[in-house]
Amino acid sequence: MSKTTLEFQRLPHPSPTSATKRTEILKDPGFGRVFSDHMVTIRYTEGKGWHSATIGPRGPLQMDPASAVLHYSQEIFEGLKAYRTKEGGAVMFRPGENARRFQRSAERLAMPKLPEDVFVESLNQLVNIDRDWIPDGDGSLYLRPFMFANEVFLGVKPSSEYLYMVIASPVGSYFKSKDSAVSVWVSQDYTRAAPGGTGAAKCGGNYAASLTAQMEAYKHGCEQVVFLDAVEKKWIEELGGMNVFFIMDDGSLLTPPTSGTILEGITRASIITVAKDMGIKTREEPYSLDQWRKDAGTGRVKESFACGTAAVLTPIGTVKSKDGEFVIGNGQAAAQTEKLKTALIDIQRCRAADTHGWVHKVF
Ligand code: PLP
Ligand code: COI
Repeated sequence: MSKTTLEFQRLPHPSPTSATKRTEILKDPGFGRVFSDHMVTIRYTEGKGWHSATIGPRGPLQMDPASAVLHYSQEIFEGLKAYRTKEGGAVMFRPGENARRFQRSAERLAMPKLPEDVFVESLNQLVNIDRDWIPDGDGSLYLRPFMFANEVFLGVKPSSEYLYMVIASPVGSYFKSKDSAVSVWVSQDYTRAAPGGTGAAKCGGNYAASLTAQMEAYKHGCEQVVFLDAVEKKWIEELGGMNVFFIMDDGSLLTPPTSGTILEGITRASIITVAKDMGIKTREEPYSLDQWRKDAGTGRVKESFACGTAAVLTPIGTVKSKDGEFVIGNGQAAAQTEKLKTALIDIQRCRAADTHGWVHKVF
C-alpha cells in the first residue's frame, strides 16, 4: 500500500460474509442496496486536523441527535467504481479527479479539505480488503466516500468536527428498466441550482432539493428529471444525477457548459476526451429545451444520452414535459452512444490502452 500522511488502523471483520452468501448477493445486486463487509472512517477535529483513520467492519453509527448534519445538512459525497480486470486485479477510474472534486465541494460547504493522497488511499484500503465484493462481468463495486458535520451544536456555523467515511456497494445497472433507453421528465417548475448556489458541489442538499421533481418524473413514467437553468428556465442544465449530451446529425457532440450550476462530471470530461481521440468534435454550449424539441423533430439531433458514474452512458428515448412529449431518433437504439460507451468502458476495464493514465491499480 502506498505511503500517505495518515496511518490507517486495519481491523478486519471478525465474521465476514461467507463466500456462498456473497456469490448469491453478487448475482443480481441492483444499485446501492447491498454493501461489502468493511468501511473507512477518518475524523477531523478543529485544532487537531485529520486523525484516527481506520478500516474496519461496516456497521451502524451512533450519533447525537444534535449532530449538525442532521439539522443543517453540511454534507458532501463522491461516487466512483472499482472494476475487476480479466487478470483478476482491481482498478479504479480517475480517483484523483474525485479527490479534487471532493475538495472543491468541501470548500463550497465550508468544510476542511481532505488531502488528495488520503482520499485515494482510503479507497485503496477499502477495495483491497473487500476486493472479493467486485462482481464479475458487467458489474462493479461502487465506492461512496462522504463527509459530514458532527459537532453537537445547534448554532448555524461550520462544524468544528467532521467524520469522513467510505462504504462500498456491489452494483449492476443503475436503472431498473431493462429497455436500453430511458424516458426523462423536464421540470419546468422546480430548478436544481441557481447561480451562486451549490450546483457545482456534490452535496446531499442538492439531491434532497431534486426529489419533488423526481416524484413528478415517476408519476409521468420517467426515470430521471432534466433540470433547466434557474434564471430563464430555458436552458438545459443536467439530470438529477447525471450530465447530458446530444449527438447531432453530423456526428458531433453538444453538452451544456459547466458554468457553476451543474456538476463537473468526470464521465462527462472523459467522454469529451474519448470523443476527441475518436475524431469527434464536442461543443460545450447552452442548448434550450425548445431547440432540443425542434432538433429531435427535424432529425438534427440523432441521439441524446445521460452520463455519470452510476448511469455510465444511457440513451434518452423519450422526453416528456408539461407541454407534451417528443422522441429522440427511434426512441430506442442509439448506435453512436453505444460506440462511445464501449470506448469508455474498455478503458475503465483495461480492455483498451490507457493512453491518458486514467486507470489506477489497487494493490
Ligand atoms: N451530475 C450530477 C447531479 C450527478 O449526481 C452526477 C453523478 O455523480 C453526475 C452529474 C456525473 O458525475 P460523474 O460522471 O463524475 O459521476
Ligand atoms: C454517481 O453517478 O456517482 C451519482 O452520484 C449519481 C447518483 C447515484 C446520485
